Amino acid sequence: MQRILVVDDAEMNRELLREILENDFVVEMAADGEQALQKLQEYQDGMAALLLDLQMPRADGFAVIDQMRECGLMERIPVLIISSEGAVDVENKCFELGVSDFIHKPFVDSIVRNRVKNTIELFTCKNQLENKIEKQSEALKKQEQIIRIQAEQLSTAEAFSKLMMEYRSAIMEVETRLKVLNAMFSEEYKRNPFESIKSRLKKPESIYKKLVRKELPVTIENIKECVADVAGLRVICSFPDDIYRLAELLLKQDDIILLNEKDYIKTPKANGYRSLHLILSIPVFLPDAKKYVKAEVQFRTIAMDFWASLEHKLKYKKSIDNTEEIERQLKACADSIEALDYQMQEIRDKIDYSGGKI
Ligand code: GTP
Ligand code: MG
Repeated sequence: MQRILVVDDAEMNRELLREILENDFVVEMAADGEQALQKLQEYQDGMAALLLDLQMPRADGFAVIDQMRECGLMERIPVLIISSEGAVDVENKCFELGVSDFIHKPFVDSIVRNRVKNTIELFTCKNQLENKIEKQSEALKKQEQIIRIQAEQLSTAEAFSKLMMEYRSAIMEVETRLKVLNAMFSEEYKRNPFESIKSRLKKPESIYKKLVRKELPVTIENIKECVADVAGLRVICSFPDDIYRLAELLLKQDDIILLNEKDYIKTPKANGYRSLHLILSIPVFLPDAKKYVKAEVQFRTIAMDFWASLEHKLKYKKSIDNTEEIERQLKACADSIEALDYQMQEIRDKIDYSGGKI
């Protein structure tokens, strides 16, 4: 059975109402506003309705309503006013304060019972509906948020894959230009300035890691500005002088911009690493525009490449014993390889000058 609270200073009224309602409800009683508030405090949401007299000593009905409004109880418990006379302005004021209905004296059993029951039913329905709407609008807000995030991710993903397409095009562009140079060169000198070209598009994970290492947010703009090696090409030549000849011919092309050059052949790294690195900006022709895209081109001889692949393994393998000794040996190999590269070049020259071809 639901619990209700009857608040009236007249004992007779309380008893009458208890008699009328006790078959349907657990009836709690209070003789003034203060007692009523104590009972409300005690039962809180366990109270299904409040039957409230307006004129009482100590705290009157309005004081109870005020207190209930302050604690948000008016939204949770329906209040029916017990009133003898139907003064219109008082009733209006009560409705304005959130009162649900009135029970007029003298009490008619069936009317009182039905009023209380209907009020509770209506109030519960209203609250359930409000809860439902609140939950639905919360769910709707969450869905909107998810859709917004998904749209953002999608547009970033779209922009990212478009950007990757640009880098792929740049690789194709540089590769084609190098292949054309190779063909022209071999026509003239009867030998190829490079042995092979390897290319790779930097993986999203590596792009991400590079930006994080530079303490930059991962954005399309930062990829374009701060990661120069998304499009990477490695040109493997036979002899050191082919490297410079090829690089010069490439840079002579009037639409290629040299952004940075690192000559680790003239100035090898302390570990012995040798290669010529060019960061280029090269135009690619897309359906809607011509765009300049960055590409990193590394030029190496076969011997330098051989060395670099082995040294790379050392760098990325964490659990290697005796690293210092291996580093020393690698440096010694780099020096031998350098000497070897130039010795081979000299032999090639001798053969060339004596009329032979390589
Ligand atoms: P990254 O952040 O790695 O791109 O280096 P960086 O911006 O300092 O440019 P750098 O021109 O020095 O190196 C670019 C690339 O050259 C590297 O990503 C490697 O592929 C290669 N490289 C540079 N130094 C070494 C080295 O000591 N050993 C090997 N095996 N490769 C190297
Ligand atoms: Mg790199």
